[in-house]
Amino acid sequence: MGKEPSGEFEYSRGLEGVSAAISAMSRIDGDDGILIYRGIPIEIMAENSTFEEATYFLLFGNLPNKKELDDFTTEMKEYRKLTSEEIEWIKNFPKGGHPMDALKTCVSYMGMEEPPPPGEKQTLRGFTKNGKKIIARLPSFVAAFDRARNGKEILQPDNSLPHAANFLYMLHGEKPDEESAKILDLAFILHADHGMNASTFSTYVTSSTLSDIYSSIITGIGTLRGPLHGGANERVVAMLQQIGSPENAEDYIMKAIKEHKKIMGFGHRVYKAYDPRAKILKDYAKNLAGKEESKLVETAIKVEEIMMREVSKKGIFPNVDFYSGFAYKAIGIPTDLFTPIFAVSRVSGWVGHCIEYRQQNRIFRPRAIYNGPIDVEYTPMDERE
Ligand code: SDX
Repeated sequence: MGKEPSGEFEYSRGLEGVSAAISAMSRIDGDDGILIYRGIPIEIMAENSTFEEATYFLLFGNLPNKKELDDFTTEMKEYRKLTSEEIEWIKNFPKGGHPMDALKTCVSYMGMEEPPPPGEKQTLRGFTKNGKKIIARLPSFVAAFDRARNGKEILQPDNSLPHAANFLYMLHGEKPDEESAKILDLAFILHADHGMNASTFSTYVTSSTLSDIYSSIITGIGTLRGPLHGGANERVVAMLQQIGSPENAEDYIMKAIKEHKKIMGFGHRVYKAYDPRAKILKDYAKNLAGKEESKLVETAIKVEEIMMREVSKKGIFPNVDFYSGFAYKAIGIPTDLFTPIFAVSRVSGWVGHCIEYRQQNRIFRPRAIYNGPIDVEYTPMDERE
C-alpha cells in the first residue's frame, strides 16, 4: 500500500493485476492460454471468420447476418479511397520516416479533414462512424506510404477485394493469390483484440476525456509501436537473422539469458502459457516457409525449444509476435511494416473499446504515490551553490 495525504491507495507497478474497465469484447485466460472474442474461442474465429466479420462482431456484439455483413463491408469499402490531397501529402512524407509515424500523421490528417464536434456534442453514432472510417482507411495509408517512399505510384483501392486482399493489392500493385490473402486475413483476425493491453488501455484513457476518436487511435498507434508491445515482431525477425542458423541458437540464447536480455517474441504479462495465437501462426510459418524463410523458421523452432527448456518454468512462452513475422515475410511484406499491420488489425479493438466505454464513460484518473520531500525551503538564487 502507498500513502497519500488523503489516505492509503493500492499501488501495482505497471498496473499488474489491476482491472481498469469492464468489457465484453475479449477475455484472456493466461494460465491456460485461452483467448475468446465475445465468447467465441480465437481458434474458431480463425477457422471460420473474416476480418470484416470479426470487426463487426467486436464492435457491435453480434455475429452479423448476411445483410448486416454486406452493408458493413460496402460501407467500409466506400471509406477506403484516398483523397487527392492525401495522396499529394503522403508523397511528400520524409522517405526515411517510420511507417508508424506516417500512420499517426495520416489519422491526424483525417481528423483535420473532417473535424469532429467538441467532445460533449459528439454523438455515439458519429463517433462510431468516424471509427469505422479509420478502420477502413489504415490499410490504404500504410500501402500508400510504402509505395511513395519507394518511388512507386500510390494506388487507389480495388473494391472488388476484401480488406486483407485489398491491402496486398494496394501494397504490391497486383491482386494477391488466395493463400496470401487468407494468411493476412487470418493474422488480422488474430490481432484484432486482446483485452486491456497497453495500446488499448492508452486509447481508453484518451477517449475517457471525451477527446475525439482520431486522437484516441493516434495514442494507440504510438503505444503499440514500442518494442515491448507491438514493435517486437519486427525485432524477432532481426534477431533470427542475426542468429543465422539453428546451430547458432544455443550460444546466442544462453548468452542472452545469462545477460538478463529480453528475447523478443517471448513472455507476456497475462499469458503464463503458450499464446494461442502463436500456436496458430506457428503452423502457418512451418507450412509457408519458402527456401529463404525455412532457415529462419528452423532457427525459430530451435530458439523456442531452448527457451521452453530454460524459462518456461518461469511462465515465459512464445507470444503472438514470435511467429507473426513469418506470415508477413512469406507474403512479401517488408519488416518495418509488421507493426503497422498489427495496428491495421488492432484498430478494430481500439475502436470497439472506445465505443463500449463511451457508454459508461468515466475519465481515467489514477493516483501517484508521492515519494518526494515535504516542507522544503525555497533558496534564493544568490544563496544557491
Ligand atoms: C504483445 O498485453 C498484451 O496483450 C500484448 C499483446 C497484444 O496482443 O496486445 O499480446 C501483444 O505486446 C506481445 C508481447 C510482445 N513483446 C515482446 O515479445 C517483448 C519481449 N517480452 C518482454 O519484454 C515481456 O515479456 C513483456 C513486456 C511482454 C511482459 O513483461 P512483464 O509482464 O512486465 O514481465 P517482466 O518484464 O516483469 O518479466 C518477468 C520476469 C523477469 O525475470 P526476473 O527479473 O523476475 O528474473 O520474466 C523475465 C524477466 O526478465 N522475462 C523474460 C522475457 N520476458 C520476461 N526473460 C527473457 N525474455 C523475455 N522475453
